[in-house]
Amino acid sequence: MKLIRNPWKLQQRLEKERARGKTVGFVPTMGALHEGHLSLVRAAHRENDITVVSIFVNPTQFVVNEDYAKYPRVLSDDIKKLRTVKADYLFCPSVAAMYPEGYATFVDVSPRLANVLCGKFRPGHFRGVATVVAKLLNITGSCRLYLGAKDFQQATVISRFVHDLNLPTHVRVMPTVREKGGLAMSSRNRYLSPGERQRAVAISRVLFKFKKDLLRGKRGRLAGLKARALRELKKNVDRIQYFEVVEPGTLALLKKRQKNMTVLTACFVGKTRLIDNVIIRT
Ligand code: PAF
Repeated sequence: MKLIRNPWKLQQRLEKERARGKTVGFVPTMGALHEGHLSLVRAAHRENDITVVSIFVNPTQFVVNEDYAKYPRVLSDDIKKLRTVKADYLFCPSVAAMYPEGYATFVDVSPRLANVLCGKFRPGHFRGVATVVAKLLNITGSCRLYLGAKDFQQATVISRFVHDLNLPTHVRVMPTVREKGGLAMSSRNRYLSPGERQRAVAISRVLFKFKKDLLRGKRGRLAGLKARALRELKKNVDRIQYFEVVEPGTLALLKKRQKNMTVLTACFVGKTRLIDNVIIRT
């Protein structure tokens, strides 16, 4: 695996690879890699000739008072993990290389997608995500992009701007990888104490129960199911930011059941903010 820090150098290398007829699979990450990330790298490796992973803790997607400074940075551990899944290139740019002095350009996604759900509580977050991913896609060039469904809103925002801006990228959203008890894998799970980790399991349990009850029931309105889910969540987590049923693609809030739905939640367990979702097709 070749470690590259310079954006121009990676861009040139990948241009050469594509000129030789090779396809490129790209997995953007902020490091502190877990099985969820590795499953994306494996998929990229299966479906492409060349696999590129980036590790960049992107300052523009963190809101004031969030965990940017303390976000886990464990590059040597990450390198060991990436070697086991056969990544070809690891791109680790510095903040100065990505946002040099005078940097002035951002990708602004419609508030309908970027200011709802997580965006309501993390103003500017998706502008930062869209900007850095657009930059990374321009550096990697034409490719397949691998994202985890755990970050459902992020995947929706990215799929939208890739389409809207005619980027030569094919977005692949892969299933959430879960720990044994159901907790969705996340780099932030390492902040949880053993007790908090046990309570956090309720998040996926409540989401899957919601899905089961919804598929079993016939009633159109979702309010009753939602109230029951919130009661159960409240017993286990310390704060619920939102628990919503939306239309996938537009993220419009739903009050009544329809064919395709995604149920998303963001909760605090202790000081750790966790997100999860389930996708429902009836
Ligand atoms: O999901 C993440 O880790 C980040 O939001 C991403 C997509 C790497 C952009 O910084």
